[in-house]
Amino acid sequence: MIVTIDGPAGSGKSTVARKLAALMGIPYLDTGAMYRALTLKALESGTSLDDPDALVRLARETAIALDCGPTYVRVRMDGRDVSEAIRSMQVNAHTNPVAANPGVRAVLVEKQREIGRQLGSLVTEGRDQGSVVFPDADVKFLLEASDAKRAERRYLELKADGEEVDLDAILANIRSRDKNDERQWLPLKERGQAIVIDTTAMSIAAVVERMREEVERCRARQAVRR
Ligand code: C5P
Repeated sequence: MIVTIDGPAGSGKSTVARKLAALMGIPYLDTGAMYRALTLKALESGTSLDDPDALVRLARETAIALDCGPTYVRVRMDGRDVSEAIRSMQVNAHTNPVAANPGVRAVLVEKQREIGRQLGSLVTEGRDQGSVVFPDADVKFLLEASDAKRAERRYLELKADGEEVDLDAILANIRSRDKNDERQWLPLKERGQAIVIDTTAMSIAAVVERMREEVERCRARQAVRR
């Protein structure tokens, strides 16, 4: 079974995706980590973020390996563990040109489909998982939350990691990423292809429970069809 979870930064995707995957006993894929790893590589290697072709070459050359467990995501870029480095505000602030590059997306989308083929069943989260990467997914979720709530969540996360953070800067960063990101998931919403959950006032447990019910419903429908 393939379950996709899309939505903006701070909508709670990562937390609920890994909890749902653990409940279902299937792997979890954090596709944002791939865009983050590539952004880090561009920054470290001095690749111009204004050079679309160089970014595509970088995407092709870079080995990104993910180990997504129930309580952790370990990310290796060219063999080096970059799990912490990819969560910095510096990376947050530079993902846009990487994620907006169609050639880069094509390379990463193919890597994600390959992971999907190898695993067979997974919970995958990102921006385009239900719309582009796995259009035939069994269950598609779209998570939403107010801007203020999303900024607050990111603020608490970064602070817990020991980063010096400013709530207004995070809000501005989230809004600028939304502008670029939302074109990925809007088709899902416009075509009514996703189960939309507004997580603003919901606990993590409540969101996971709601998702679990939807997955059970899907399994029951599939069992009847067989
Ligand atoms: O979800 P996360 O904040 O880790 O994603 C980092 C960035 O990667 C996002 O701002 C978005 O621009 C990009 N992304 C994407 N498509 C995905 C996952 C993430 O464009 N499937």
